[in-house]
Amino acid sequence: MADMTEAWSIGGVEIPSRIVLAPMAGVSVQAFRRQGRRFGAGLVCSEMVSSCGLQHRNERTLGYLRIAADEHPLAVQIFGSDPGPMAEAAQMVVAAGADIVDINFGCPVRKVTKTGAGASALEDHELACALAGAVVDAVDVPVSVKMRRGLRNGSRTALELGPKLEARGVASLTLHPRSAQQMYTGTADHSLTAELVERVGIPVIASGDIGDRAGAQRVLDETGAAAVMVGRGAQGRPWALREMAGAGGPDADPAEVVSELIRFMREVEREMGERAVGFLRKFYGWYLRGTPGAKAIRGVLVTCATVAEAERALLEFCPEARPLVAVHEAELELLGDIDADSLLELPISIYGGG
Ligand SMILES: Cc1cc2nc3c(=O)[nH]c(=O)nc-3n(C[C@H](O)[C@H](O)[C@H](O)COP(=O)(O)O)c2cc1C
Repeated sequence: MADMTEAWSIGGVEIPSRIVLAPMAGVSVQAFRRQGRRFGAGLVCSEMVSSCGLQHRNERTLGYLRIAADEHPLAVQIFGSDPGPMAEAAQMVVAAGADIVDINFGCPVRKVTKTGAGASALEDHELACALAGAVVDAVDVPVSVKMRRGLRNGSRTALELGPKLEARGVASLTLHPRSAQQMYTGTADHSLTAELVERVGIPVIASGDIGDRAGAQRVLDETGAAAVMVGRGAQGRPWALREMAGAGGPDADPAEVVSELIRFMREVEREMGERAVGFLRKFYGWYLRGTPGAKAIRGVLVTCATVAEAERALLEFCPEARPLVAVHEAELELLGDIDADSLLELPISIYGGG
């Protein structure tokens, strides 16, 4: 049976567990990545950053990426459709501190695919290999690629593309075995992941519908993948990662949930300032689902004008969280100055996906 806490590696980068936190646009901010590391993820991934400021100048962005010293190993994901800017972006990403450069060949959003980037590269293997090759040649760190199975339902093109990417020097592949057309409907067909593992010699990461230890072990055992990636299952539920790592249960009591949420809110505010207020709204529901009285407090939280106001409302709702918040506070003090973070001057795309 697969051991979730066994170390493995991508290129020369050692990864201390078989749990990878998924890149998710609008979710995988620094606070989320740090939390993932604390709860057992061996590798965390950034949101998708645009390789081409010019090409995507009109794109609405979520700001810029911050990288802190305690996030490593970290993969930073880039997308684009032009090998030159992709190579340049990869160099910037490495200079900012990425241990692995990940290329997005999975984003199903039309704004991205119509430029030839994201999942549409799955249908143009020559372009896909040119993009991956340019990135591999530009940097000294390992390069990974994240794919969907193909654009259209039933497509198996990722299985053909995988070995070509390996031949071009890619060090690891992640497969989310849904088509781009499916978006997030239906189920991830991990029999394709097993086939991909058979066809390549590099580590494969299985992504899609994995949310608990039993499911993670089943996918590892049935596919031979090196690791599992967890996305939606970790939204507001870091305890799911802890359970997968065999280090505790999947559930937390209300005081634990509220104190962890408050820590997350403070870290997000540290990271994005005033923009934290709007950004955090979707997280309240994710954290508080299943907590008695959640509906009323969520209604209050989404109307708060500042993070401090939301924090006060949460502590009124659950005063038992106070001692745990004090513990988090002590840890946060150790996090160091935000100015010590490195900042990547490439825009984070709001159109992420994969
Ligand atoms: C809100 C959201 C944003 C996402 N953004 C990205 C992204 O920027 N890059 C990427 O490769 N995949 C992205 N994905 C796909 C996930 O990384 C993952 O492959 C997918 O959600 C399936 O895994 P899950 O069932 O564990 O969520 C995103 C998924 C969601 C739900």
